[in-house]
Amino acid sequence: MQILALNAIAAMLPTRSEQSHKASFGHVFNVAGSINYPGAAYLSSISALRVGAGYVTLASSLLVCQRVAAQSPDLVFLPLPSVHEAANDFLPSESAAQILSQLKRVNTKLCSMSIGSGLGRIAQTARVADEAHTDNYAFFCALLHGLQQETLPIVLDADGLNFLSRKPLTLPENCLLTPHPKELSRLLAVSVAHIQADRVKYAQQAALQFNAIVVLKGANTVITDGKRVFINPTGNSALAKAGTGDVLTGMITGFCAQGVSPLNAACLGVYLHGLAGDIAALALSPYSMLASDLINFIPKALIRVL
Ligand code: APR
Ligand code: MG
Repeated sequence: MQILALNAIAAMLPTRSEQSHKASFGHVFNVAGSINYPGAAYLSSISALRVGAGYVTLASSLLVCQRVAAQSPDLVFLPLPSVHEAANDFLPSESAAQILSQLKRVNTKLCSMSIGSGLGRIAQTARVADEAHTDNYAFFCALLHGLQQETLPIVLDADGLNFLSRKPLTLPENCLLTPHPKELSRLLAVSVAHIQADRVKYAQQAALQFNAIVVLKGANTVITDGKRVFINPTGNSALAKAGTGDVLTGMITGFCAQGVSPLNAACLGVYLHGLAGDIAALALSPYSMLASDLINFIPKALIRVL
């Protein structure tokens, strides 16, 4: 077991050659957001750019893409076909096929995907007659099925994890799971109290069971591949605010896109996310920091480590 330290984190940071262009720093596909949670799509997408990724494409409903585009000129959009225009219930196979065909156009060695931030479990279009479209679960299954043979790192967060806990699904090779204790409780069918009493044991158990890197969030986040274990010392109560988990997802996925190994990307993302929260809490107080403030402190955390 190792407590993450600044010098170890500095050594994991990807180098940035001056002989570079945007494709040198990778492409993130972020499958996120829904009518009720457009902010999750924004926060996760911007955070991937803030840690150095060259491109971020947000795949979401037309409405979410339009809302996020109005907030940021820095992103690329892939509006997914939905049962209802501007709705949240993506046509499963058509939407999955659109994402997979975009993936085929990029350098798969410098590419990563995140699935689930604010994706929404319950249909926003309550009157949809077709039961199959009551939420994005069928889409999630179709997308994971299409990704089975792919080796790009895939971060599953929030509703991606909740979908995964519905029934056992085989995951592609390089997955990372970023549960908070309640999400891990659903995944393992173990109570939150038990998990919190032995966070390392349950994080390792999940990593072995799902054959993935597991990031068990909360104070002193645990990062493990099932064998090696890292404990994060950064972060504070300012981070206990809606949306900060979406920022973490974007940061980890952004490092993965730059060719960092999934385990190192998880360590980098978690440590720098906490450090950004520590610097932000000094400037804004732990009471007042918002997730949208946190993204503006990522550069200060990076400068501290460089
Ligand atoms: N100390 C240090 N770090 C903390 C603390 C703390 N006291 N509290 C929270 N954090 C960190 C966690 O480690 C994690 O990185 O803040 C982040 C919170 O992430 P989430 O729990 O996923 O929170 P959130 O962003 O609101 O999630 C958005 O997705 O997971 C679902 O149910 C969740 O609807 C919510 C949505
Ligand atoms: Mg979350």
